[in-house]
Amino acid sequence: MNLESTTRTHLPFGDKHDSPFYGRDIVSVRQFDEDDLDYIFEVAHEMQAMVARVGTFDLLKGKLLANLFYEPSTRTSSSFTAAMERLGGSVIPINEVRYSSVSKGESLPDTVRTLERYADVIVLRHPDVGASAEAARYASKPIINAGDGVGEHPTQALLDLFTIQEELDAVNGLTVTMVGDLKYGRTVHSLSRLLSKFDVALNLVSPEILRMPAEILEELAESGTPFSEHDALDPVIPATDVLYVTRVQKERFEKEAAYEAVKDAFVVTPATLEAAKKLMIVMHPLPRVNEISMEVDADPRAAYFRQMEYGMYVRMALLAMVLGKA
Ligand code: NCD
Repeated sequence: MNLESTTRTHLPFGDKHDSPFYGRDIVSVRQFDEDDLDYIFEVAHEMQAMVARVGTFDLLKGKLLANLFYEPSTRTSSSFTAAMERLGGSVIPINEVRYSSVSKGESLPDTVRTLERYADVIVLRHPDVGASAEAARYASKPIINAGDGVGEHPTQALLDLFTIQEELDAVNGLTVTMVGDLKYGRTVHSLSRLLSKFDVALNLVSPEILRMPAEILEELAESGTPFSEHDALDPVIPATDVLYVTRVQKERFEKEAAYEAVKDAFVVTPATLEAAKKLMIVMHPLPRVNEISMEVDADPRAAYFRQMEYGMYVRMALLAMVLGKA
């Protein structure tokens, strides 16, 4: 675990905070151990209870979040906004970088060093792998990676793990099947890394050209996580506890024809789930295109909309923690 370059302690003048997350960047799931995860989820539970009780409260009153998105987003950007506002804080939204100074050629280091003069924390989505780590090297306020190209999406993986724990009561002992675009899907990259800290078995189902990157397979092997690769979904469905479906990442393909050839390789329908356990869940980071048919939505095992709500509690927890209030 090399956190040297990505995780530092930033102690603003006059503040005294002893939270282990205070001032930290969140750039990769690699930075978390099991105690960290327990702590994040404990705080997320408190957030859930508070939202149920009072809706909005003033934990981060006076704090500002800059939401800096160089790629499209609905859930990640709005859930960080919702999380910040439920905690009484405010948000500077920068969703269309083409209307900002980025279109004049401003570099990422300059943009984040500008925004941190106004805001207390920066949430960054960027098309390049490593962009958040780079931003974190320049910024002295916390940077939260909201997706760096085909790299990682750590806050999504944390909310995915929280969802599994909440829905199935435990993570150890489960069989998790990931299906779809395992090559370009950053959510499955982060989630595999996070799950490798637990006693789980992974089925990796994808078209040949969209297999999980070798680097991640090596990490799984090193951590002793049993995994197997498949080109068909049906055979692995009966043993699956968590079916994690992903969208084929059209925007990462160089040739439209290559995308067209694989875009509907796997479609989950009610028939797919007939062979599944009664107690299992279907997850998806969303947005969905065709990979889960809408008839599945009414199945109680379809957890993908509940998953989004868990995400807000996890992001509330992360914001409170990096800002020294939890
Ligand atoms: C994902 C992403 O952006 O990586 N979306 C999300 O954050 N919930 C998945 C995707 O775009 O397919």
